[in-house]
Amino acid sequence: MPSGIIPILRRVRRSKSSAQATRILYTGVELGVFEALKGTDEPQPAGAVAQERALDRQGAYRLMRALASLGLLAEDEKHCFSLTEAGELLLEDHPMSLRGVARLEEGPAHYEVWKYLGNLVREGVPPNGFQREFGHDVFAHLEQDPAYAQRFNEAMTSLSRLESAQVKALLGDKAFEDVEHVCDVGGGHGHLLCTLLEDAPGTRGTVLELSEVVNAQEGHRHEQMGLTDRVDFVVGDFFEGVPSADAYLMKHILHDWSDDECIQILSSIRQAVSEGARLFVCELVIPGPDRSHLSKLFDMHMMLATTGRERTVEEYDELFAKSYQSS
Ligand SMILES: C[S@@+](CC[C@H](N)C(=O)[O-])C[C@H]1O[C@@H](n2cnc3c(N)ncnc32)[C@H](O)[C@@H]1O
Repeated sequence: MPSGIIPILRRVRRSKSSAQATRILYTGVELGVFEALKGTDEPQPAGAVAQERALDRQGAYRLMRALASLGLLAEDEKHCFSLTEAGELLLEDHPMSLRGVARLEEGPAHYEVWKYLGNLVREGVPPNGFQREFGHDVFAHLEQDPAYAQRFNEAMTSLSRLESAQVKALLGDKAFEDVEHVCDVGGGHGHLLCTLLEDAPGTRGTVLELSEVVNAQEGHRHEQMGLTDRVDFVVGDFFEGVPSADAYLMKHILHDWSDDECIQILSSIRQAVSEGARLFVCELVIPGPDRSHLSKLFDMHMMLATTGRERTVEEYDELFAKSYQSS
């Protein structure tokens, strides 16, 4: 066997076992293993966690050993377990919690939808995986399944915890200097908008969202951050129209839609804006073939769940040019 094959074999093996790793991580979250270890002063035997969470003793030990092997728990000589720094990120109340992302991405709906990947590559989209499994698209699913909506919104807020700080650093403190009103189009629970407005006391904001997100209220950031006097939530459909504002934010919106649908959304914004308004778009951007990148993997999810896709810089340029020409 040529020696160069070993690292290649290891690489393929790692890709294969990452599917097992996400399933193990998800099961630990769903069964409450991380929560059971929260705030314990001493490492705990698996039996104590099994008793607290009504799990099989042996099953709990084997799962926790696997979680320790992933670096999410630490196992000591006595086979007792504690949370690692990485495992703490899976606690619900951690300020940077990623629990929502884990629960959405490996949860029951996405688990069903991913089985269609081969069909989509063979037959093309539409219909995408959501349409094949549930007969409707992902946003209709949010409306019809409150448990899915809860997972989805928790995951969006989870991701925003990481991204809002990055966007804020990128935009700097002058982005909203002369902006009176900013609208976050499809702004979820308002995490990004509230983070940006925290240090822009002269600016007010509106989150435009679907009724189930606005009416659910749970998790809305303006209440948690004391910004209810400057931030409001309005129900609307960005294909129909958006509130008038002098700046717009769109984070992870365009990637959900086909070029034609994006052009419709951009056209709703154009119809509402005054001269000189600004639009800030935040998306993953697909880099060239020489780089391995999350966006190339996440694009598979976009194919399964939406009519959209992740795009390269050139594809975004082309999309904005087409939108401009169509106005
Ligand atoms: C991928 S999420 C992004 C949420 C948020 N911008 C973020 O980055 O966390 C897409 C959002 O678009 C909202 N949405 C989908 N269709 C919509 C429509 N027609 N009008 C308004 N909002 C919509 C969804 O409810 C969802 O919150």
